[in-house]
Amino acid sequence: MILITGGAGYIGSHVVKEIAASGYDVMILDNLSTGNRKAVEVIINLLADLSGAGKTYLTVGDCGDQLLLDQICQQHPIEAAIHLAAFSEVGESMQDAAKYFTNNTAQTILLLNSLRRHQVDKLVFSSTAAVYGQPLQNPILEDHPLQPTNVYGLSKMMIESMLPRYRVNYGLNYISLRYFNAAGADASGLIGEKHRQESHLIPLVILRAMGKRDRFTIFGDDYDTPDGTCLRDYIHVSDLAQAHLLALQALLAGTMQERVYNLGNGQPHSVREVITAVEHCCGQTLPYDIGPRRSGDPSILLASSQRAREELNWKPRYPCLQDIVDSAWRWHNSENW
Ligand SMILES: NC(=O)c1ccc[n+]([C@@H]2O[C@H](COP(=O)([O-])OP(=O)(O)OC[C@H]3O[C@@H](n4cnc5c(N)ncnc54)[C@H](O)[C@@H]3O)[C@@H](O)[C@H]2O)c1
Repeated sequence: MILITGGAGYIGSHVVKEIAASGYDVMILDNLSTGNRKAVEVIINLLADLSGAGKTYLTVGDCGDQLLLDQICQQHPIEAAIHLAAFSEVGESMQDAAKYFTNNTAQTILLLNSLRRHQVDKLVFSSTAAVYGQPLQNPILEDHPLQPTNVYGLSKMMIESMLPRYRVNYGLNYISLRYFNAAGADASGLIGEKHRQESHLIPLVILRAMGKRDRFTIFGDDYDTPDGTCLRDYIHVSDLAQAHLLALQALLAGTMQERVYNLGNGQPHSVREVITAVEHCCGQTLPYDIGPRRSGDPSILLASSQRAREELNWKPRYPCLQDIVDSAWRWHNSENW
């Protein structure tokens, strides 16, 4: 059985679906602080008829709750953990650093210690491009210096810097996955991105197109990019999920002990291109405002995912921005949203 923390969240629900569909039993541990119980129920129903799929269970609680982890590990044969549980609002992290250090860093240390006590020695860790800060060059390679410019990135970087020590002292085998901009929704249209506080560009523009939000603002149109707006690397959430499966399998097979991978498409798309892609979906022109730049926003963030492609044999199935946006559009217009 695989323990998946944060499995009721946006990316976590797609990861759970991918792992369980591949035959692994899954125990989700999620406190539902930003996650969605319904997503878990949908996955359980979706996989009920799929032959060879593993079983999915949900425990509601904190990933740092040592007594709860003791219970889970005593009652279930946990082979490995995939740790996605975290808060991930960059702006909020700068206003309330303690919330991020406590949840993303302290809770993760407690989780690592519980896993260690129960001899669970394989971990896939959700990290982020935010650990890099202002890139010195694009595309960004994994050995780029880690200089986060926000507390969220710092809270993740601190865990990344501890993992090698957990390997040396306690034999933890781990893979850190640094995602760039996760986007899109599962092909079934049954699970997708639904944050209570939405801050991601694609859902914000879609919600505007659906009349569920007022005008939106582009933060800066005077960057040194072709159309003046920031360039980002969007990666389909189902492609991220597939990378988690490949990482898990590499750890279970013992072919990988300690590695870090970037996960992105390696293709830059501007804010204006994203708006155009949503306009294709909704068939109307969307009005927006131009505001000042946000401090700390790099003009370009682009991943080199060559290492994941070569070593994990990972190949994104949905690299086209329009396909990513179309899948998000379908999800937002579904009855499950
Ligand atoms: N969305 C992105 O573009 C992106 C990019 C890079 C990295 N990430 C990372 O991916 C992971 C998932 O992000 P997401 O966008 O799906 O966010 P999300 O908020 O949808 O999912 C996070 C999940 O973790 C749960 N959770 C939070 N703290 C917990 C705790 N202490 N104990 C148990 N459960 C807890 C929440 O209830 C939620 O279900 C996070 O670690 C995030 O930092 C996301």
